[in-house]
Amino acid sequence: MPGLSDATRRRILFGGDYNPEQWPEETWPEDVRLMKTAGVNSVTLGVFSWSKLEPRPGVHDFGWLDRLMDLLHEGGIGVVLATPTASPPPWLGHLHPDTLPRDADGRTEWWGGRQHFSHSSTAYRRHAAAITEALAARYGGHPALTMWHINNEYCTYDHGDEAATRFRRWLRDRYGTLDALNTAWGTAFWSQGYGDWAEVVPPRRAHYLRNPTQVLDFRRFTSDMLLECCTAERDIVRRHTPHIPVTTNFMPLWSGQDAWRWAEEEDVVSVDLYPDPRDPFGAQEGALVQDMTRSQARGPWMLMEQAAGAVNWRGVNHPKPRGLNRLWSLQAVARGADAVCYFQWRQSRQGAEKFHSGMVSHAGERGRTYQEVKQLGADLARIAPHVTGGAVAADVAVLHDWHSWWAGDQEARPSREVDYPDVLRAWHRALWQAGLTTDFARPDHDLTGYRLVVVPQLYLLTDAAVDNLVAHVRGGATLVCGFLTGVADQDDRIRPGAMDVRLRELFGIRTLHEWWPLRPGERAECEGGLRGTLWSEELEPDGTADETIAYRGGELDGLPAVLRKGRAWYLSTLPEPDRLRALLARAAADAGVRPVLDGLPDGVEAVRRGDLLFLLNHGREPVTVDLPGTHHDLLTQTTATDRITLGRYGAAVLKP
Ligand code: GLA
Repeated sequence: MPGLSDATRRRILFGGDYNPEQWPEETWPEDVRLMKTAGVNSVTLGVFSWSKLEPRPGVHDFGWLDRLMDLLHEGGIGVVLATPTASPPPWLGHLHPDTLPRDADGRTEWWGGRQHFSHSSTAYRRHAAAITEALAARYGGHPALTMWHINNEYCTYDHGDEAATRFRRWLRDRYGTLDALNTAWGTAFWSQGYGDWAEVVPPRRAHYLRNPTQVLDFRRFTSDMLLECCTAERDIVRRHTPHIPVTTNFMPLWSGQDAWRWAEEEDVVSVDLYPDPRDPFGAQEGALVQDMTRSQARGPWMLMEQAAGAVNWRGVNHPKPRGLNRLWSLQAVARGADAVCYFQWRQSRQGAEKFHSGMVSHAGERGRTYQEVKQLGADLARIAPHVTGGAVAADVAVLHDWHSWWAGDQEARPSREVDYPDVLRAWHRALWQAGLTTDFARPDHDLTGYRLVVVPQLYLLTDAAVDNLVAHVRGGATLVCGFLTGVADQDDRIRPGAMDVRLRELFGIRTLHEWWPLRPGERAECEGGLRGTLWSEELEPDGTADETIAYRGGELDGLPAVLRKGRAWYLSTLPEPDRLRALLARAAADAGVRPVLDGLPDGVEAVRRGDLLFLLNHGREPVTVDLPGTHHDLLTQTTATDRITLGRYGAAVLKP
């Protein structure tokens, strides 16, 4: 099976989405000149080129792409060639209105934007396969081709009639009989019992709350249908070029795809990452997504898209201040990326993304953005031989699962204030601040090697996952588990006692009497100055815990907020950030897990990749970092002994 190393060949892939069809052909040689000057060695072509490649049904125009592929090859620039199926040409929707998706309210999503395709439409799938086949046949042997990029950010939903047909088929495969479906969905509630498969529909607009397991299954189904579209195209290109790796780009922490499952189907895992330059936690957001992507890839991964400057889709869109683009790119490499790419090469002059930055901004070659890109290209070339292929060391696993997210994030629950991604962020950020490098894992993955496992929140846990966690603790690992975990089974059926009994025994909880969610801004005061946010619980301990921190005051006065029984911790609230960090640092220390470096100044990140130590200063002020011994900084080609000073947004890549 080919992998990322087949495309990188000891280089860090550096480049971005290139949409030359938006520009007169005279611009292309100039693009190649600027790419070469900046050290660009890879571009992604054709992501949204379907109507250019197939202007009329079955009529192809490949001349322009032939010339581009040749031009790029002559310039020494490799091509990640995309199947253009994320944005069908207007003729497809016009000819086959059934290719257009419908939302839960029955409204059609029309062409004129992008991603207006139904994953369930047979006509869409047929036409997508045909253009993929034509591309693969034509360019499979082209020397510029280094990787295939299937579609773009799969993210569509469809509640229409063809989707309904496929949903029924998917449910038959899952449940076999209507009886089993009725049991799983709990259709005794509100007279929802199904007597004929034809009665089953996607969760469309309803008068009042919809069946939660129907919604959960629809999310599972949607992820699976999109994956079917993706693997169908993958199989076509693989047939032509078994030696060329295949990827599809994920959106970061996106709810619509079970990315654990998807990653298994890819040769290269890639992600698009756009932290807000004005977000004080932008670096931590980046670290989270990078850790998750690396874990899905089980090794080096590809940063397929980031912005060289501003995006165009937030309320207020700030550019990156000088130095930040380089810093965040090096952060991705530190956390396992062997490719640093952008959306997009040249900033558009027309279309919906003309205010979105590019590596070459409207200011052109003299612009600060391009000048910084050029500097980054040189930095990446310098470190590439030492870093590519290197593994990132992590003793801590954060558990995350899409099915649990889908089940927990529904209507009519104890508190709408609980936002799963935000809870995940709070925990990962606390670990980041404690200087601990983390992988992510699924709760049923093999956790061997992780001395500390944390579960920010897994509302739904299968029996196999519960057994896995319990066995891991029994095997000597430390587990720290957040509230609202182990509540539901795989069908979103509340477990007896509202928390799996095996987990209650693990933590020393006899009875979970009630959940007491907190209002925004409300705090649950606890012993020792700990203050809980978002949530609290009325727990009756069984007397076996070794340590507890109790609630103070209010209805829960004296009851445990935090319990530790041996190596298993349970947090029935979300402690304020400093206390969460301290608690996780303590659990890590007890588990024998050390931070990457002791005594790091605030805002400085340290990550080990292979034998390299990356130091990243996310602050705007220079800092001095104490170092063990003498290191050689690959970026500056200087030697540092015992300490090193990093400037504003400064970085060092140190070799012992
Ligand atoms: C996504 C898409 C790109 C572009 C960028 C803009 O990542 O894949 O085509 O729209 O967003 O940020």
